[in-house]
Amino acid sequence: MTAVSGRGPLPGWMLDEVANAGRENLDVEHVARYDGKEDAGAIEELALLSQSGLLDAGSVVIDQGAGTGQFTLAVSPVCARVVAVDVSPVMLRTLRDKVAAQGLTNVEVVRAGFLTYEHTGEPADLIYSRYALHHLPDAWKAIALTRMRRMLRRGGMVRLWDVVYSFEPDEAEERLEAWCATGGDGIVGEWSRAELEEHVRDEDSTFTWLLEPMMRRAGLAIEKVMLSEDGIFAQYLLRAQ
Ligand SMILES: C[S@@+](CC[C@H](N)C(=O)[O-])C[C@H]1O[C@@H](n2cnc3c(N)ncnc32)[C@H](O)[C@@H]1O
Repeated sequence: MTAVSGRGPLPGWMLDEVANAGRENLDVEHVARYDGKEDAGAIEELALLSQSGLLDAGSVVIDQGAGTGQFTLAVSPVCARVVAVDVSPVMLRTLRDKVAAQGLTNVEVVRAGFLTYEHTGEPADLIYSRYALHHLPDAWKAIALTRMRRMLRRGGMVRLWDVVYSFEPDEAEERLEAWCATGGDGIVGEWSRAELEEHVRDEDSTFTWLLEPMMRRAGLAIEKVMLSEDGIFAQYLLRAQ
C-alpha cells in the first residue's frame, strides 16, 4: 500500500502515477527549462473558452497535470476557483512559487493524480488538461476520464489536449519518424529529437480511435475535435452528459 496526500493507503494494484509521470517531469533541470521550451498557448485557450461561454467569473476550474501552471496562472484572474493538480513534486514546487509570487488567492495546488485527486466543494465547470493524460496506460485513461466526469457538473466541459495519434497503425513508422525528425539538437528553448523519441518509446500516447470511445463511455460527449495534419496532436472539447 502506498500513501498519497488527501487519500488513505492505496491498494497494491493501483498504478504508480509518479513512476509513470515521465522521467523528465521529475527532473529539476528539465522543469527549470520547461517554460522556455513549451508555450502552452494559455492566453489563446482562455480566449477560446471565454468566447465559447465555457468560463466566467463564477467558474470552478480543475487543471489536471498542471505542470508549471501556465494555464492555472492565466485562468486564475477570470474564474472563482482553480485547483491545480499534479503528481510531480518538482513541477508543484515551481507552480507554488509562482502562485505565491503573484499573490493569487483563488488557486489551490494539490499533489495528486488523475487517479487519486478527490474533488470537494462545488462540482467543476471546466477540467483543463494539456499534454498529461498520455502518461496513463489506456485502461487507466478510461478510469481517469470516468473520474473527471464525476468531478464535473452536468453540462460542464473538459478541454483536453494531448499527443494522440490519428493515423493508421500501418502508417506508424513513417508518421512517428517524421515527428521525431522535427526535434532539434538541443534541449534549451526547443524539444530535441531524443526527447520526442523518448515520448514515443516510453510514454503511453494512444490512437484517437481508442481514446474517443473511452470518452463517450465515461459520459463525456465529444463536441469538438481538432486533429493536427501530421496525425500527432489532438485537441478536444468534451461535455459532461
Ligand atoms: C508535459 S507536462 C504538461 C504541463 C502543462 N499541462 C502544460 O501544458 O504545460 C505533463 C504534466 O503531467 C503531469 N502528470 C504526469 N502524470 C500525471 C498523473 N497521473 N496525474 C496528474 N498529472 C500527471 C506531469 O508531472 C507534468 O507536470
